[in-house]
This record gives sequence, structure tokens and C-alpha cells, in this order.
Amino acid sequence: MLWKKHTKQEIQTRVFQALEENRNYDSDYILGIPGSYLDTEQFHRDADFLANAPYLKTFINNPNHIGCHTLTGADGEDLFRGTQKLEIELIQMVSEEILHAPKNSVDGYVAPGGTEANIQALWIYRNFYQKEQGAKNEEIGVIFSSDSHYSFYKGANLLSIKPLPVKVDADTRSLGMAGLREKIQEAKQMGIKYFIANANMSTTMFGSVDDPDILAAAFEAEKVPYKIHADGAFGGFIYPFTNPESKLDFRNPNITSITLDAHKMLMAPYGTGIFLIRKDWMHYAATAEAQYVQGLDYTMVGSRNGAQAVSIWMILQTHGPRGWRENIQSLMDETSRVTDVLEELGIPYYRNPHMNIISMHASAVPPEVTQKYRLVADDFEGVPKWWKIVVMPHTKGKVIDNFISDLRRLKGALNNQ
Ligand SMILES: Cc1ncc(COP(=O)(O)O)c(C=O)c1O
Repeated sequence: MLWKKHTKQEIQTRVFQALEENRNYDSDYILGIPGSYLDTEQFHRDADFLANAPYLKTFINNPNHIGCHTLTGADGEDLFRGTQKLEIELIQMVSEEILHAPKNSVDGYVAPGGTEANIQALWIYRNFYQKEQGAKNEEIGVIFSSDSHYSFYKGANLLSIKPLPVKVDADTRSLGMAGLREKIQEAKQMGIKYFIANANMSTTMFGSVDDPDILAAAFEAEKVPYKIHADGAFGGFIYPFTNPESKLDFRNPNITSITLDAHKMLMAPYGTGIFLIRKDWMHYAATAEAQYVQGLDYTMVGSRNGAQAVSIWMILQTHGPRGWRENIQSLMDETSRVTDVLEELGIPYYRNPHMNIISMHASAVPPEVTQKYRLVADDFEGVPKWWKIVVMPHTKGKVIDNFISDLRRLKGALNNQ
């Protein structure tokens, strides 16, 4: 097992070893690279605290993790091999020990965020259809629920392929077979022959989770080619821990790629999306012209600071699988504490029992709490139908206590009017 709980000292030693293994701009001859350590006037390399701050030390050393290291291994950029090995270990840890992939069967990299990871998936499948089936852009469509993140519209726009949002049931927020088949039939009539689909491992607004079997069954019934990506940008570090029966991991042969974001639930710094895809797919995103990059580039982003991969690796090793599971369980318990009160007060809501998001019917929520607690509406432009709460580590205890007592007081006053 790669994923274990480690002490602060052990983590620090491992990261410093990785930095030693890197070629460093201040101790090696690096003459041909358009990069350096961070500006020394702003980022003091000699600050005493850096001796105990492995993330910050990596950050100011500024190792470039350009490319996809699980794919290129020893053939990739060799200057920053030490920290790149931590990234390879991270991709294996997440894909194999959280998402149940067979050993060494997945490629991946740390992306700027969930948006890029989702678009990377669309890019790879579009290129696959073009290269292997001779597809034209206008013959490729992306099926996703209308609750999906807007990155699917953004990606379809950038790649000149057709976005095909499918309405969900207003109460269960789920995709139905009839709606999916209707959308696929409509798309076929528009000349779409090849499909890419997104299955949400929790939507942003509702915490709802799509059933990939329904998606696959709809495509099979319509006899069209399809590839399924799972967007776990929000739920990727929650759902696999709360639902052992999850169909949204690499045990499911229909799932080819997955997005996770460490800068959401894992509380890593921004710039820590994770893109994972089964082996033999990454090459569809190769830019053959990236000749000066050792091992070529297979990512959208290009250059990226290796400190972001190190930060995710460090957080996972700090908690270990058991610690992380306990963390998530405590968020689930706190979420249930809120839903118990909503039931008591007669406020209708949606919650997936495996997630820490609650969306309340807007008409039943006193406006004061929506402002005071900065709740998020499904629609800030028009009239909101839902207000959402995300139970996070910083909201546990006091914030939720105060929210509940305000809700009780204001709801009681409303009922007495
Ligand atoms: C489900 C889902 N997918 C994708 C994204 C995009 O992630 P990012 O903002 O990291 O690009 C988000 C962000 O909220 C999300 O919730």
C-alpha cells in the first residue's frame, strides 16, 4: 500500500529527499531552461522556517512538472525527477487505492483544476473519434445532466463539439432513461454519430450523483459509440469513502477517466485538480510539435509548479486512509444533524445520503439566513428555487450550531405570523 498515515517528520524527510533528487536552479548548472527559482526579493530562500516547511520550500524551488509522468517515466523531463516521482506515486495512490484501478493501469497528472481535467477528457475522446473513426467535430456530442458543471459547455465550445444537456427530474435530480434516449435520438437527427458522456460524482449545486449504468444502457439501446468520463471534482474525495458500492470508479469498465479536485474537499491550495485516465488513452492528447519538452506534452496546461502535486501527496500522507475516512464521516454526521432539523421544521430539501451538500427549497428558507450564512442559490440572476449548504470542516460545530438556532428562531417567527 502506498497510502499510509505518516508523521510530519517522515513526510518532511521524503519531500526534502525528492528535492535533493531534483536538479535545483541554485545548486546545479541549468543553462537551457526558460525558468528559475522564484524571485529572491519576494521569496526569501534563506528564511529559517523553510527548513520545516516542505511545501513552501518546493514552491519556491519551482520545479516544473510539465508533461504526464506516469506515461513518460524515465523518458520525461529529468531535471525534476525527485518531485515528479511523488506525483507518480500520488496518481497511483488515488487511482488504485481510492478508485480501485488495477496496478499501473492509469495515467494522470495534477491539473490546474476540475475545469481543465474535464476538458482534457473531452479533448482526448474528441481526438480519439477523429483519429480512429474519421469523425468530424460536428458529428461528436457531449451528453451531460443539466446539473453538471459549466466546464462541459466551456469544453464543448473550445473543442467545437456539440453540448447536449439532458434535463433531470426536479425532485430526485437524476437522469432518466427516457430523457436520455430522447436526447440521443434528437442528436442523431442533427447528424451526431459519436458520443462522450459525463457522469457526475456529485454535482456542484445538489451533491447528486449520476448512475453510469443508465447512461451506458441508453447508448447501448441507441446503438451508438460512447465514452464515459466521471466528474468527481467535488465528490472525488468524499463519495468513494461514503459509498463502498460506488459505480463511479475504475472497477466499472464503462468509466474511462475521472476528475478529482484536491482544492475542494481535501483542502489543498488552488491549482490541484487531478486528471486520471486508463492507460493507452493519454496519447490522443499528445502535441507532436512539443519537441523541446523531453517526453513531449500530453496536457492542456504545459508548465506547472510541482509543489501542487507535493501538497496533495502530503495531505493524503498526513491523514492516512483511516484518518481521512473518519474526517469524512464526521462531515456526514454533521450534515445529518442539519437535515434532522430541516425535517423537524418542515423545510423540504434534497440530499444524497452519501454527500455533504443540502439544497433547500428556496420558498421555505427565511431570507435572513441566506444572507448571513452566504448560502448559494441555483440562480442568482432570476428567482432562486434552491439554496445550498455545503458542510465543510470550517463549518462543523459553531457555524452549524448558529445556523440551526437562527433557522429555528426565524422559522418559528414566520410560522407564528
Ligand atoms: C462538479 C464540479 N466540476 C468541475 C468544477 C470545476 O472545478 P475548478 O473550479 O477547480 O476548475 C467544479 C467546481 O466547483 C465542480 O463542482
